[in-house]
Amino acid sequence: MNTPVSYEIVDDVGVITIDSPPVNALSHAVRQGMLEAIRLAQKDASKAVIIRCRGRTFIAGADITEFGKPPAEPSLPDLLDEIEASEKPVIAALHGTALGGGLETALASHYRIALDSGAVGLPEVKLGLLPGAGGTQRVPRLAGLQAALDLILSGTPISAQRAAELGLVDKVVSGNLDDEALAYARELIGNRAPARRSSEFDVEAAPAGLFDGYRSNLAKRARGQHAPQRIVDCVEAAASLPFAEGIRKEREMFVACMQDPQSIALRHMFFAEREASKVRDLPGDTAQREIRTVGIIGGGTMGGGIAMSFANAGFPVTMIEIDDEALERGLSIIEKNYAGSVKHGKLSEDAAAQCRGLISGATDYAALADADLVIEAVFEDPRLKKDIFARLDDVCKDGAILATNTSYQDVNEIAAATTRPEDVIGLHFFSPAHIMKLLEVVRAEKTADDVLATCMAVAKQIRKVPVVSGVCYGFIGNRMLQGYFREAQLCLIEGGLPESIDAAMFDWGMAMGPISVADLAGLDVGYKARQALPDDQRGDPRSYRVADALVEIGRLGQKTGAGFYSYDPATRKKSSDAAVQEIIEREAKNLGIERNPVAADEIVDRLIYALINEGLRILDEGIAQRPGDIDVVYVYGYGFPAWRGGPMHYADAVGLDRVLARIKEFRRRYGEANWTPAALLERLAGDGRSLTEWAAEQNT
Ligand code: 3HC
Ligand code: NAI
Repeated sequence: MNTPVSYEIVDDVGVITIDSPPVNALSHAVRQGMLEAIRLAQKDASKAVIIRCRGRTFIAGADITEFGKPPAEPSLPDLLDEIEASEKPVIAALHGTALGGGLETALASHYRIALDSGAVGLPEVKLGLLPGAGGTQRVPRLAGLQAALDLILSGTPISAQRAAELGLVDKVVSGNLDDEALAYARELIGNRAPARRSSEFDVEAAPAGLFDGYRSNLAKRARGQHAPQRIVDCVEAAASLPFAEGIRKEREMFVACMQDPQSIALRHMFFAEREASKVRDLPGDTAQREIRTVGIIGGGTMGGGIAMSFANAGFPVTMIEIDDEALERGLSIIEKNYAGSVKHGKLSEDAAAQCRGLISGATDYAALADADLVIEAVFEDPRLKKDIFARLDDVCKDGAILATNTSYQDVNEIAAATTRPEDVIGLHFFSPAHIMKLLEVVRAEKTADDVLATCMAVAKQIRKVPVVSGVCYGFIGNRMLQGYFREAQLCLIEGGLPESIDAAMFDWGMAMGPISVADLAGLDVGYKARQALPDDQRGDPRSYRVADALVEIGRLGQKTGAGFYSYDPATRKKSSDAAVQEIIEREAKNLGIERNPVAADEIVDRLIYALINEGLRILDEGIAQRPGDIDVVYVYGYGFPAWRGGPMHYADAVGLDRVLARIKEFRRRYGEANWTPAALLERLAGDGRSLTEWAAEQNT
């Protein structure tokens, strides 16, 4: 057979081997090969059949690149029907990650043996889908309804051991899986084990309220998302309908999900995340520097979190502070964070102690002499940062990578403070740095290729999602945020209230409304930045008068218990405050603004289209490599709903011509200064092209 699937008979066992790198996805060729092999096995002298894979993993799922294309026979459900119908026992031999359609293949087989290092899961929900090849019907039959709901709704893989406890795997082994699977097949043959079909198993009766409980919980936890609710419908069908009807229901729901814009967006994110880690003009074989030890300067909010990120991945970290007191404060916050992780069951006590043990402190820069990578995270003061880089130039060894976590400063200028600008790069983490996945990797003019390649690789080692940005004020994410916040503040003063602005954006899908974000970040941060600028560079004065007025009466946000909202000192629960409404009304009057309610859809469009417009400029200037990179920045760093695919995917989904028309409408209503359409938007909308098409051309 000329397919990625081979078939051979070993003694009296038929062995189907799939070898389709990188992850043995169920492409058309693989499905076709498996079908031919299972048919051959029905006719030959074999007494049992093994399905196994070569390479790093058992089948990792359907081939996502085929989604949205015309279907090609055999479909996965048809293939799995034939596997299950086999008269000879079929054994799936699992290693690596048996995911999605891969696990479903195993569940349609009659027996499952797994390597102890393996994991299984149904991650379809993360792609806005549901298991579409029997998973929603077979898992409840093997593991029970609640375990099925938890596995399918979380999308998170479980260990082979846990899968065995749940009844999804029959045997967990160590050593050589090929040998173990053959031995298991012979044991089954010896015992005259039947072709045991999970579709024929009974489903337990559902406890009262089970499904509605999940539905109402998901309405909050997976706000606005369709796939999770459809998964509950399918598992409920498993409990109430015969297998064949349940499968029909699953099929219908799977097709609905597949065509749903939410799934299209999430599939885009899957590939965007992987593409973002590729730097266009960096050869794949670029050498990397070895990173064994890390130095962090500044043990404040960011420095502590960055230190934890590295320690959690096994890197020894030295943290530098200005004096013993500041160092003690920084280390004790780290201590408290680890204690919190243990308390919430995220880390065992041993693991936390081990990570904590990797972080040491010092007040003398000489302690950085041996560090391979140093990350500066001191106050956002350009002069201070340049002083520190000049000092690093003196103390750090040759070849050390010198990085800054600055949010806004010019990395080229910081690099120029050293005699080795090629070793300097921006590594912009997001707060809280040990939790947020995004890492903007800021490539300065002189950053060496191997420095960039090393940082991209290290980002993955510390489990971050790296995105390359060029140098500009605020890089990709914070630069775009300026227009978003400006519009939030303008909607506020023109007639909104903090709660109405936040509700509009939260209901649309943002993790947090912009006014709450401002309170969380601290209103003094923007205030200080504005004070440092001449009047004419502070932006639209109508967009910061209220915030300035709040800062001037000491309402700095959550940290002072009051900002745009008031916060309960014990619970941090926010509530609206009549005093703030008075300030908004007063400032509006001073500015000659007549306040009128602003509708939720207008709020959403103004904020999101401001993001999109700036994103298009960033692309045109080459600051971001591709539209998908911007989407990754917004989904992983700014709480943009993944199921809307990031601002650039959303722009394409709406249609660039419609986006342009709305921006022009805003220009008419609110003026040229804030609403000049990006040149790239005008060009693409004029040519009737999408960003996706444009990005594909840039790649060729
Ligand atoms: N289809 C097509 N390509 C896939 C794929 C899939 N299911 N899974 C991974 N790939 C590709 C990636 O795009 C990447 O390609 P690239 O090298 O060109 O960028 C390559 O395989 C390697 O992937 P990763 O970089 O993610 O490799 P890792 O080793 O970090 O992770 C993995 C491996 C855990 C298998 C991870 O790739 C993964 O989670 N894959 C997706 C699994 C999934 O979602 N399966 C369900 C699919 S939907 C389904 O099965 C529907 C069914 O119910 C009918
Ligand atoms: P912070 O004020 O919490 O911490 C700064 C720390 O640096 C303080 O503990 C201070 O004692 C220490 N420090 C000052 N001068 C020093 C020196 N010469 N040597 C050693 N330590 C010194 O500040 P934060 O929020 O951690 O910000 C740090 C940097 O990270 C800034 O550049 C900021 O723009 C950036 N950033 C901040 C984010 C945030 O949300 N807070 C997000 C992303 C980046």
